Amino acid sequence: MGDNLSSIPADNPFIRHIRGERRRPRRTEDPDRCRFHPDKPRIGCSDCLTDARVEGDLEAIARWHAAVQAGECDARFPPRFRTAQPSEPEIAAWVGEWEAREDPPGLLILGSVGVGKTHQAFGALRAAVTGARPVKWAAVSAGAMFDSLRPGDKRDPEKAMNSYLTVPLVLVDDLGAGKTSEWTEDVVFRVIDGRYAAELPVIVTSNGTPVELRERLGDRVVSRLAEMCRRVHLTGPDRRRQAAAEQRRAA
Ligand SMILES: Nc1ncnc2c1ncn2[C@@H]1O[C@H](COP(=O)(O)OP(=O)(O)OP(=O)(O)O)[C@@H](O)[C@H]1O
Ligand SMILES: [Mg+2]
Ligand SMILES: [Zn+2]
Repeated sequence: MGDNLSSIPADNPFIRHIRGERRRPRRTEDPDRCRFHPDKPRIGCSDCLTDARVEGDLEAIARWHAAVQAGECDARFPPRFRTAQPSEPEIAAWVGEWEAREDPPGLLILGSVGVGKTHQAFGALRAAVTGARPVKWAAVSAGAMFDSLRPGDKRDPEKAMNSYLTVPLVLVDDLGAGKTSEWTEDVVFRVIDGRYAAELPVIVTSNGTPVELRERLGDRVVSRLAEMCRRVHLTGPDRRRQAAAEQRRAA
């Protein structure tokens, strides 16, 4: 009997692993390159993912995806909310549910102007997708969502709608804020009902009370959101006015 392994290429990660060659960093000082595979980027190194899969290292696979999503958050979050933390206790509790439950609920954040809804929403989104359940995500304001769904030269409304309906987690900021029309109502219903039917969670913010929300979005949307989401009502001052007043005092 010969060496059964000799037919497998020597650079196969499994072979390298059993030879103890894996995880011995080749020297690279470049912070953008993978420590183990200097020809690959540090975040999202496909060789590292292959290694983790070959070893069946589920934790390493989850860590790999979490790192990729953290990079996505850095690149795609609005600068103002890039460092936002889910600091409100009820928001933090939702993050805990996201990690712990098989079928985590969505999150509906209500409250008046400037209380920090968008901040908490992005904080919750980042904590959710960079933790133990790293999933692909999308984040849009309702206005940007409508824009992306209107037919236009450079737009592909069908593709955009498809992504809102299928991405594992979507954040829709400021739902029910702008002018409504039959068309916007129909879009909101299609997105919320589609995700409801597919049992996919949403993070939604809105600056209305539940009663106002029903007037602006309609009963059928609000009824679905109520079933899909934990509802958190933020209270407190308008943080923008507060910050401006503090600046005036300091000047
Ligand atoms: N926990 C926080 N710590 C520090 N800054 C915060 C916090 N929450 C909110 N802010 C800041 O306060 C301002 C208002 O917050 P945010 O935009 O989240 O409010 P909002 O409730 O979404 O307002 P609107 O109803 O107008 O959309 C922003 O500049 C935000 O960065
Ligand atoms: Mg906001
Ligand atoms: Zn690597």
